[in-house]
Amino acid sequence: MHFHVLTLFPEMITNGMSESIIGRACQKDLIHVDAVNIRDYTLDKHKKVDDYTYGGGAGMLMQAQPVYDAYEAVCKKTSSGKPRVIYTTPQGEVFTQKKAAELAQEEDLVFLCGHYEGIDERVLEEIVTDYLSIGDYVLTGGELPAMVMIDAISRLVPGVLNNDDSAQTESHSNGLLEYPQYSRPEVWHEKRVPEVLMSGHHANIEKWRLEQSLLRTKERRPDMYEAYLREHPPVEKKKNKRRKKTTGNEE
Ligand code: ADE
Repeated sequence: MHFHVLTLFPEMITNGMSESIIGRACQKDLIHVDAVNIRDYTLDKHKKVDDYTYGGGAGMLMQAQPVYDAYEAVCKKTSSGKPRVIYTTPQGEVFTQKKAAELAQEEDLVFLCGHYEGIDERVLEEIVTDYLSIGDYVLTGGELPAMVMIDAISRLVPGVLNNDDSAQTESHSNGLLEYPQYSRPEVWHEKRVPEVLMSGHHANIEKWRLEQSLLRTKERRPDMYEAYLREHPPVEKKKNKRRKKTTGNEE
């Protein structure tokens, strides 16, 4: 999987994506993260990439030309020639685990990171396929959101996580938060690991984990819990129809 990040701060991306699991995935060629400096594509002799907004208002806007030319250069490096382009913006649809799974199917993804007051609308109209936000708050630029999304997508690429299982049991993958987990020692600060986890009884452990996931989701994310119940309505127990006792004298 190939990520191309169009940015004015390429080092933020190369530094942020070079450590830990993502760094290792890059070294193993499971994923590639290319940071493309938009400034390298400006035709302005002073290397300027921004200007004042028409109509007035505070701040500067990133101009269309360097963004478009950087995009065109990246397209040429992709297999389809027309990759999906994600603009990271607080005005976008909120990024979810479901969206991460959908995007993990792509061969190439382009992330466009805005700065200052944003980017000239005309180039956005021409190149952006997805407007995505990482939450209802405003950051100073799109690099951190791009890295958040690349991280979430990359860990779904086969081979990136050591244990394929953990991408499936974790929070959000089944609409519930993950159950609590424990490691050694058996007792810490007078707190004992729940007995069932020491039992080796797999069916009971699975049952306990599901109960804990449900409890935790209900408490911490009631919105997710309601959605889960709508998808998985509790099975109503059949009422025991009590048979009338017969006396033997009925007609
Ligand atoms: N750029 C600035 N804030 C953002 C956010 N919350 N999500 C995505 N991109 C952003």
